[in-house]
Amino acid sequence: MCGISGVAGLTDVSHILLASIKSLEYRGYDSCGMAILAQRRIEIRKDVGTVDEVIQRQRLYEVHGLLGIAHTRWATHGGVTSVNAHPHRSSDGAFAVVHNGIISNYRQLRGELEELGYVFSSETDSEVIPHLLHFYYRREQDVERALQCCLARLEGSYAFALLTTHEPERLYCAKLQSPLILGIGSNQNFIGSDFNAFIAYTRSAVVLDDHEYAVLTNDSYRIINALTSLPIRKNLMHIAWDPEQAQKGGYPHYMLKEVFEQPQTVSKVLAIERGELEKLARSLFDAGRAYFIGAGTTYYAALFGQYQLAELAQLFVPAISSDEFKFGALVDAETLVVAISQSGETYDTLEALRFAREHGAHTAAIVNVQGSSMTRLVDQVIMQGSGPEICVVSTKSALAQMLILTRLALVAGLLRGTLSAVQYDEREAELRLLPAVIQRILNEKSGFINTIARRHCHVNDWLYLGRGIYYAVAMESALKMKEVAYLHAEGMPGGFLKHGTLALIGEGVNTIVFTPPRAQRELHDLSLGSTEEVKARGGYLIGIHFDAEPSLYQDQVQLPEMPAILGPFAQLVVGQLLAYFAATALKRNVDKPRSLAKSVTVA
Ligand code: G6P
Repeated sequence: MCGISGVAGLTDVSHILLASIKSLEYRGYDSCGMAILAQRRIEIRKDVGTVDEVIQRQRLYEVHGLLGIAHTRWATHGGVTSVNAHPHRSSDGAFAVVHNGIISNYRQLRGELEELGYVFSSETDSEVIPHLLHFYYRREQDVERALQCCLARLEGSYAFALLTTHEPERLYCAKLQSPLILGIGSNQNFIGSDFNAFIAYTRSAVVLDDHEYAVLTNDSYRIINALTSLPIRKNLMHIAWDPEQAQKGGYPHYMLKEVFEQPQTVSKVLAIERGELEKLARSLFDAGRAYFIGAGTTYYAALFGQYQLAELAQLFVPAISSDEFKFGALVDAETLVVAISQSGETYDTLEALRFAREHGAHTAAIVNVQGSSMTRLVDQVIMQGSGPEICVVSTKSALAQMLILTRLALVAGLLRGTLSAVQYDEREAELRLLPAVIQRILNEKSGFINTIARRHCHVNDWLYLGRGIYYAVAMESALKMKEVAYLHAEGMPGGFLKHGTLALIGEGVNTIVFTPPRAQRELHDLSLGSTEEVKARGGYLIGIHFDAEPSLYQDQVQLPEMPAILGPFAQLVVGQLLAYFAATALKRNVDKPRSLAKSVTVA
């Protein structure tokens, strides 16, 4: 959601701080600001707009000091205004705070503080924090005690960082439910919402847990349990990501870079030890019932997993959108919940996992971000190893998750005997062709897909049809189109079309059909049936297919022949490129689409 960062250094930290919030901008990008402490004075500059806009307009580069905090915002409480932007300060200017999360009892706290004469300048929940700190500091005459008292009053979720004129060498930060990580460098230490805040400066990190706070100077840090006030020793974690990977590397957008990285992403997934997948497969067998959960794209990855497990291992593992899990699933001690998440921080998915754990369920997760909350919450983790994904919309990470689920289904099939050893080896060997297949599509089809996208990007309404596992592909591809091109794209099973939506077919609605290879005879023929239904009503059809059917479609992307198991992945790449090129033709903010954030850490 919001991104927070903090730096304590030996020399001026302002340029580091600006680079840091720029790297976190994908977490939120409606406004930003920073506070720097110098000569026992805190200077705050903030405004509405992107980090670059605010840097220029407010001349953030003019402020210098050895200690600073910064924030990039995704508004929840209070509109997108300069006053609501962070940092927020106490009335006497002695405390400045940046916050990510939602203080759920802020109305009550605000009321109490206002009665005491505190004047609020913003509409945010966050502003209660500096005022509370001021209040308790006056009583305790000690910053750390004031922070402890403040934490005892806050409910909801928070990751916040603060600096204060009372202790000009120290940064403080605290965490409950929202992610917070320390970066430990030489002569400089960092606070960040995630690794990207400081990976350019250090790859040593300490992940904070709930109810912990930390005190940092440029050459020391300590972590304290806020509930017991006792110090905590934590291991340093080495961040496996290469800082280079978080750069755009010559591509116009991160999205395109990440789509083009997919051959390598696939290779990483293929390198995951079979033993890891076997362990998860056995947990699935042991469970009385099991679910896959995810949000947005990862829900569609979960759906993809449902189809693969059913087909390859004859196991029914339904996919449920994390936000609906509590209401639609049955959970008990015999249940296994497998979460899928790029960030490992998505609130809805974490909440569903917590709910499952409270009911005694066993939990597992497929996650990209090392050290994230989800990796620490669940009983079993598979790290997908896709490297940093900076674009808000997920591409390479989603493809990796779908491939992991496919490999899981193959292993489960082998263990259950629904696949013979020969069949298993054949399918695994076919998956090893995927990097080259994706590379070929990227090389040979990108230009062509760009032409189609430009030709049709002014059509506002789209139907994306798929059958079987291609239904999951159609849903995810439609979501990509919505997220990045802001076009209304509705995914649905091909068979569902005739039960209502067919009434929409006509002028102004484009239909994309994800047709499986002819080798998947039943699915293939059913898809052609849906295509005919649209054609008969004069709908405009774009086919993504493997076998020449030119007369059926007005436009088409014909993919090379490939083993059936690779088909959905190949079509997914086409869906990504179509959305990307439509978005660039429409001059959308590709890497940071309006109103979205990469990891949604609030309810
Ligand atoms: C947000 C993003 C989506 C993403 C979803 C799940 O809604 O806008 O693009 O798919 O979160 O994120 P996760 O990090 O859990 O995969």
